[in-house]
Amino acid sequence: MKDVKDIYNVAIIGCGWIAEDKHVPGLKANKDVHIAALCDIKPEKAQRLVDMFDLKDVVVYSDYKEMIKDKNIDIVHIAVPNPLHCELTVDCLNAGKHVLIEKPMAMTKAECEKMIETAKKNDRKLTVGFQWRYRPCALYVKESCDKGMLGDVYYAKAHAFRFRAFPRWGEYFSGKNGGGILIDGAPHALDLALWALNNYEPYSVKAHTYNKMAGQSEGNIWGEFPEDELKVEDTGIAMITMKNGTTILLEAAWASNTVYVDNTVTLVGTKAGLDMPGGDVRLTGVLNGKPYTMEPDLSAPGAPFSIQPVEPMYRESQEFIKAIREDCEPFVKPEQAMVVTQIIEGIYESARTGKEVFF
Ligand SMILES: NC(=O)c1ccc[n+]([C@@H]2O[C@H](COP(=O)([O-])OP(=O)(O)OC[C@H]3O[C@@H](n4cnc5c(N)ncnc54)[C@H](O)[C@@H]3O)[C@@H](O)[C@H]2O)c1
Repeated sequence: MKDVKDIYNVAIIGCGWIAEDKHVPGLKANKDVHIAALCDIKPEKAQRLVDMFDLKDVVVYSDYKEMIKDKNIDIVHIAVPNPLHCELTVDCLNAGKHVLIEKPMAMTKAECEKMIETAKKNDRKLTVGFQWRYRPCALYVKESCDKGMLGDVYYAKAHAFRFRAFPRWGEYFSGKNGGGILIDGAPHALDLALWALNNYEPYSVKAHTYNKMAGQSEGNIWGEFPEDELKVEDTGIAMITMKNGTTILLEAAWASNTVYVDNTVTLVGTKAGLDMPGGDVRLTGVLNGKPYTMEPDLSAPGAPFSIQPVEPMYRESQEFIKAIREDCEPFVKPEQAMVVTQIIEGIYESARTGKEVFF
């Protein structure tokens, strides 16, 4: 059912890093929404955002169950630790709210299925915070694949390999976020690979995790820390086989002694290959008998993709409003995000058991 309004009232649950870095700025830039409420179990964190962004007419809550009783709230963005994603999403959907849940969608495929069913039952929209899809380079990659420019893409690499970027806030180190880099950074890269390939049918995965870099936090962008603080994996490597035989190699690290290559994919096809150096796109192949390497100018008007470059976080909220207003599928479909979670779940199981996991 279309839910048509001039202005939608949005609430945010969880007023930590990503609320400050993405949700509030993205929503503030969107003229179709009003930030009506903020909720955090530590209400001072919600109040901090009110003050920092000079938000007007906002109610601050410490209990989300109280907040979602407010019939004036149309949409809830949820940005709390991952193990809470399913429960809070289901509660908000059952209260009649549309929900944008942060990535990863949830901890397990079963949780994702419950969230999708609840959205359908309540005729509410559900989407997931994979904002890196909205960058011009990612949109260009997607369009290149959809138009068949690469031919048959049989091998992809999903890169979430950071140089020194251990997050030092929240519950990332304790395990209370559900894991380490594989549940934190890897979902974005894996989402980009599946989306580019338009392939959501995994067959198996074999993976390894490592906790090697905790003693080497020198130079970490968000500060140094004692070695024994880190209780989760800092690195994960997974080989994912899709049902059609395509291989995806996922490499994820909070810290590694290699060049920083994060939130990008490398694709190898029968007609051409593609990688994303520094947030650009580079196509490689052979043309008229000669090898070529081509870097399209993504900022040029008339570049061969229809969507203009805009801030990904603004675009995320704009796209969600479009889905709600026009009753169409969200740009990030929950069924797609569910497969990301399914694969991550399989990766952890494979790393724990030492065996290949079949889906
Ligand atoms: N899309 C992205 O690029 C991106 C980047 C970072 C984090 N995230 C995701 O966002 C979520 C939050 O991450 P973060 O880095 O902001 O963490 P954070 O620890 O900085 O913030 C989480 C906030 O949730 C609050 N909270 C916990 N339980 C709550 C509850 N029951 N009700 C209300 N508030 C509650 C905490 O007090 C905290 O302020 C995670 O799921 C993470 O994976 C996404």
